[in-house]
Amino acid sequence: MDQQIEVLRAEALAEIGAVTDRASLDAARVRFLGKSGAVTSLSEGMRNVAKDDRPRFGKLLNDLRQAVSTALEAREIRLLEESDAAAVSSLDLTLPGTFAQSGTLHPLTQLMNRAVMCFRRMGFAIADGPDIETEWHCFDALNTPPDHPARNEQDTFYLPDGRLLRSHTSTVQIRVMENTPPPVRIIAPGAAYRRDEVDATHLAQFTQMEGLYVAEDVSLADLKGTLEFFFRELFGPGTELQFRPHFFPFTEPSYEIDIRAEALGNQWMELAGCGMVDPAVFEAVCERRGDRVYDPETVTGFAFGFGLDRLAMNLAKIPDIRMLVENDLRFLKQF
Ligand code: PHE
Repeated sequence: MDQQIEVLRAEALAEIGAVTDRASLDAARVRFLGKSGAVTSLSEGMRNVAKDDRPRFGKLLNDLRQAVSTALEAREIRLLEESDAAAVSSLDLTLPGTFAQSGTLHPLTQLMNRAVMCFRRMGFAIADGPDIETEWHCFDALNTPPDHPARNEQDTFYLPDGRLLRSHTSTVQIRVMENTPPPVRIIAPGAAYRRDEVDATHLAQFTQMEGLYVAEDVSLADLKGTLEFFFRELFGPGTELQFRPHFFPFTEPSYEIDIRAEALGNQWMELAGCGMVDPAVFEAVCERRGDRVYDPETVTGFAFGFGLDRLAMNLAKIPDIRMLVENDLRFLKQF
């Protein structure tokens, strides 16, 4: 029996070592370890072995079974490695790969990010508020009387419950003052909505950036310096600004800003509204807060607001505002 075991071991290891594919490996497994395989039938021969020799043969058979399983496993791993190697052998792993296209930021987003970064360097924090607003935040708190044309249903989108889509992000300035004592220095970038007929220069939704700085002794010079610095950072040191007296219900005095810059096509364009916060706005905030921290006798502030869409269009020479929202990849891929 010793010899039988040795012969079978040699035969099995040789055969398994020579196997070159999966099917032959499975066949070898069955032939040696299967229910009626060679090792199994040898075990059945134990019955004829003298009782005293059984433990020794038992151990030898176990070793044999173990050796055959180990050889099968090793061969299987080897076969897998070979097929993996064959699968990549025709690939040149040193060639440059094909890069996944990651897209680019929308031109409006790019401009917005630059503007936000610039104001942040000057110490402005970003403030946010809801797009659906109360009339109080959009108009009353901003000293805009009930008969003001902006409150008209022809100009502003009203919801059936009396709320509205904010027509400017000045609403955020009110919300910030409601919740935060001075000093505050914030910008409010975001969507604003007006009932405009959609054409090449108008959409019913546009993107605004408004700002507010309230503290003791904020002056018109601070307003002018801040905005001049900002627009020169954005559009180059040669940028010219012109502050034209204007009227807004929520600022006094108020100005409109015209700008001329190489990057914007070198022609004057109307750009922004700004001014010193009207005492009536501070009074409305005080009344809502129930304290006097925004007493117009102790604090002053400036506010400004401008649309980003037209600036982005001039910068990138985009002829039609609708292109900003059509999601046409042929357009978007250019940025
Ligand atoms: N809210 C004004 C607008 O939407 C802009 C503005 C903001 C003007 C702050 C003055 C002060 O046109």
